[in-house]
Amino acid sequence: MERIPLVETRHLKKYFDVAAGKLHAVDDVSIQIYEGQTLGVVGESGCGKSTLGRTILRLLEATDGEVLFEGQNILKYNKAEMRGMRRKMQMIFQDPYSSINPRLTVEDIIAEYMIVNKSFGGNRREIYQRTAELMDIVGLAKRLARAYPHELDGGRRQRIGIARALSLSPKFIVCDEPVSALDVSIQAQILNLLMDLQKEMGLTYMFITHNLSVVKHISTDIAVMYLGQCVERAPYQELFANPRHPYTKKLLSAIPVPDLSMRNKQIQPIRGEVTSPINPKPGCRFMSRCEFACEKCAEPLGEPTDFGNHHTCLCVRCREDL
Ligand SMILES: Nc1ncnc2c1ncn2[C@@H]1O[C@H](COP(=O)(O)OP(=O)(O)OP(=O)(O)O)[C@@H](O)[C@H]1O
Ligand SMILES: [Mg+2]
Repeated sequence: MERIPLVETRHLKKYFDVAAGKLHAVDDVSIQIYEGQTLGVVGESGCGKSTLGRTILRLLEATDGEVLFEGQNILKYNKAEMRGMRRKMQMIFQDPYSSINPRLTVEDIIAEYMIVNKSFGGNRREIYQRTAELMDIVGLAKRLARAYPHELDGGRRQRIGIARALSLSPKFIVCDEPVSALDVSIQAQILNLLMDLQKEMGLTYMFITHNLSVVKHISTDIAVMYLGQCVERAPYQELFANPRHPYTKKLLSAIPVPDLSMRNKQIQPIRGEVTSPINPKPGCRFMSRCEFACEKCAEPLGEPTDFGNHHTCLCVRCREDL
């Protein structure tokens, strides 16, 4: 039986109007995210990961394409329909401090969405009871309820962000670089927390990161983005074992290896000029940096090549043994 994705984008586009023309931040991205699973989204800074996440949640209005949630195109929803939808979809940010009112205490921050959404019929006692439960769930000590976010370290602040995202019982969470700003030891704690919560609550994640070693721990599937496009997508074991796109191969070769015998392996930097995302030409955007580029690569890109088993790749040479 064909699985139905919880969240799916079809030919999703988000262009920004800038002085020099149209900046193609997300350009024709079709991805599927299945219930209870995690799609890791990786790629260099500026490739459109955050814009993709925000456009899916309708924090940004799409330029074209569809975003399906449980099979419904939510880009067609009106304000009232979207209000109901918002509870089901939340976001966790890299720096929760930037989205938190510093004058509120920990418990007020976690209670905020529930108060605005009149959860529990607006009953404050019940809302704060739930807040205490959420603090417990994300591993924040009770004594911190009246603390202010600036008094806490980055890991605890991220736990507040997670508790807040969970407060309306969402089904889907976009995690935008949630551990990138944290110390390595704390990163593991927060990743483990996110994975435990996923198991217990059946959550579905889109996990954005520029760090492939982080995404490996948490992802079921991986989408690799390059200058607004999803250039390769596959279940994570498949992507690590059989990368097809030259860009994915470069990314994988740059992951630090714990095996000492491999330490001296040369990491090849990606050379060449980065194509501008403003009014890009129809051909492959990685072409200027790709050692395998040929004339065909300058022609308009068609649909991605489908290798079956949910593995697709947007490269005209990906069937060849490069
Ligand atoms: N509001 C905006 N107006 C104009 N251009 C924008 C806007 N937001 C993002 N961009 C551009 O869109 C492209 C994608 O940006 P985005 O922030 O989505 O990338 P990213 O992959 O999340 O990068 P990072 O890893 O640095 O967070 C970039 O070229 C960026 O400059
Ligand atoms: Mg970003």
